[in-house]
Amino acid sequence: MPIGDGMGPSIFSRPLSVNSIPVFSVWEYQKIIGNKFLSQPSTINIKVMEMKKENRSTESEDKARLAILELSHMMSVPMSLVAVIKMKVPEAIWEGGSNTPLTAPQILHRIRPQGGGDADNLQRILRMLTSYNIFAEHFSQTGERKYSLTHIGKTLVPDSQGLTYASFMLQHHQEELMRAWQLVGETVEDPTTEPFMKANGEGVLSYYNRREDARVLLGKSMQGMSIPFMRELLENYDGFHGVETVVDVGGNTGICLQMIMSKFPSVRNGINFDLPHSILSAPQIPGVTHVGGNAFDFVPEADAIFMKGGLMKNASKCSRIVIRLFQ
Ligand SMILES: C[S@@+](CC[C@H](N)C(=O)[O-])C[C@H]1O[C@@H](n2cnc3c(N)ncnc32)[C@H](O)[C@@H]1O
Repeated sequence: MPIGDGMGPSIFSRPLSVNSIPVFSVWEYQKIIGNKFLSQPSTINIKVMEMKKENRSTESEDKARLAILELSHMMSVPMSLVAVIKMKVPEAIWEGGSNTPLTAPQILHRIRPQGGGDADNLQRILRMLTSYNIFAEHFSQTGERKYSLTHIGKTLVPDSQGLTYASFMLQHHQEELMRAWQLVGETVEDPTTEPFMKANGEGVLSYYNRREDARVLLGKSMQGMSIPFMRELLENYDGFHGVETVVDVGGNTGICLQMIMSKFPSVRNGINFDLPHSILSAPQIPGVTHVGGNAFDFVPEADAIFMKGGLMKNASKCSRIVIRLFQ
């Protein structure tokens, strides 16, 4: 149910999921006819009830109304998730693998050992994210609510290599990108200028060029997502045997290339090809040359081409690149 006054930012937890329609229907029904009726049936009320029955909405209409309410409040989910990541709540609960359920005041104490902060508001955020399966809620014998991490929540805690999906979340919700999202509709009316440019007064490439912190975040977010993926891929794919030179188009930090080369010793030369700003912060990797350029203009030659999640333009432009790569 909504927590808040419903006028400004409020937190909308999700006890009434799309699967719990009967609860919603009763709630709505009560709203229409009032609780009094339910406790004191009378002839008039029974007539009203029959009228309502005739006009009662179908189950799919109920579901649709519930779904649109949930969508209208959807913003509260990523914003709350970003907030708990920034406050390092997942790490506080995880605490080296214990994942012991904690109350909101206990979590607050861990994230703010200096004191202060509002445990009630933290609990509201935790409850809302619990309804999206980030946290699990436990009740103590005295009725206190406690929170631990679910499998989804654990992805936000750095693993033994320092990898986490938290950076991916933060990268996608940084202020400059959020400003651009507000103008997404304008891409229909005026596709000549990208929303990022309109919102921030500079293009996305110039932004990453200028902001080292944003480049580092992008690199971390790619690594947090790509390393687990590449581990799986390389366990099941052996197509690089015997290949000497591989170019990774849109390789970012070059981490995928590094993993390919450590699994396949025949790959002695790796070319990490990415936009010039992206390779500015790329680390030195033995055997890997970082080459800056735009894949729409050229791609360095190699025995094999690797591409993963690399291009940010429309499908027809990307297919031009793919065709060129095979020529
Ligand atoms: C989503 S990241 C993927 C990084 C890496 N392939 C991975 O899977 O971890 C996209 C990368 O593509 C690069 N990229 C986008 N457009 C490009 C272009 N036209 N030419 C070269 N690289 C490009 C970006 O700079 C970014 O590093």
